[in-house]
Amino acid sequence: MMNANTFTIAFGADHGGFKLKDALVAWASAHGHTVLDLGTNNAESVDYPDYARLVCAKVLSGDATYGVLVCGTGLGMSYAANRHTGIRCAMVSETTSARLARQHNNANMLSLGGRMIGEEMGFDILATFLATPFEGGRHERRVAKIETL
Ligand code: RB5
Repeated sequence: MMNANTFTIAFGADHGGFKLKDALVAWASAHGHTVLDLGTNNAESVDYPDYARLVCAKVLSGDATYGVLVCGTGLGMSYAANRHTGIRCAMVSETTSARLARQHNNANMLSLGGRMIGEEMGFDILATFLATPFEGGRHERRVAKIETL
């Protein structure tokens, strides 16, 4: 039987993030999640908005529940992702923000810095994000307002 706590997760990275992305893909697969690895898969220089767009499309279509982006800092990917209506991409580098991004902001994507954090922190961030539900309540109205901006 399908574990209720497993998800389909789309992953994307540029050349600054593909190593951490590959590690996160392996971690997610090993923990029973369905993985859509949209690249990039090597150190050849690419443009992060192209990969942000691919992952956002999977989340917005419902093909993936969550998306995870990795570039060098996590910043460029988050800027690109958050241009998409309906995407709430949290750029985080520790687990407290990962938890609050879900509890308060109903984030549907994560952006991580492959040159900023290690694999263990990446695994902990992703595990925390996936395990944390949206609290709703007063946060519902605030998150809805984002979509009106
Ligand atoms: C690529 O060198 C680098 O600019 C990119 O990975 C990212 O850090 C951008 O925000």
